[in-house]
Amino acid sequence: MIRAIYPGSFDPVTLGHLDIIERAAKTVDELIVGVLNNGGKTPMFSIDERVSMLEEVTEEIPNIKVLSFSGLLVDFAKQTGATTVVRGLRAISDFEYELQMAQTNRKMYPLLDTMFLATSLEYSYLSSTTVKEVAFFDGDIREFVPESVISKVQDRVRAAKQKGRT
Ligand code: PNS
Repeated sequence: MIRAIYPGSFDPVTLGHLDIIERAAKTVDELIVGVLNNGGKTPMFSIDERVSMLEEVTEEIPNIKVLSFSGLLVDFAKQTGATTVVRGLRAISDFEYELQMAQTNRKMYPLLDTMFLATSLEYSYLSSTTVKEVAFFDGDIREFVPESVISKVQDRVRAAKQKGRT
């Protein structure tokens, strides 16, 4: 029985994330999408909003649970009984950080292994940060995020701009 965690900020979830989720869910018995709730940078969406967007876009996949976590990933893995972490690799530039994270996590919790999935070619350029930037300058994000997420990002951008004007 393989229980895996796919951790991330998901601010917001992109089609690249969804691609990894769908493929990982076929590979493991149970996939927990772990949404990071650590302070630091201010996200566009609250933790509850990010969890509910992920629940909505993964509702058809039976072996998925979406949970938030704070603190260390290794502690979340211990709490949930997960022994595998799933991460997507888009390009060589991701590799250094991802390898460091995988090795640090394994040092802290030797039972925890990281499995890397190569991002599908059509999403290799995509990140939540670029989605927000394109939306901010009124670009078309329809090919970047799931359908139900498009208007949520656009509404948030509109509200931020309005607030900036007042
Ligand atoms: O989508 P992201 O922002 O690239 O995801 C990064 C994430 C959430 C996987 C990483 O920041 C993380 O695991 N944070 C939890 C804190 C932690 O365990 N840090 C030590 C890992 S080296």
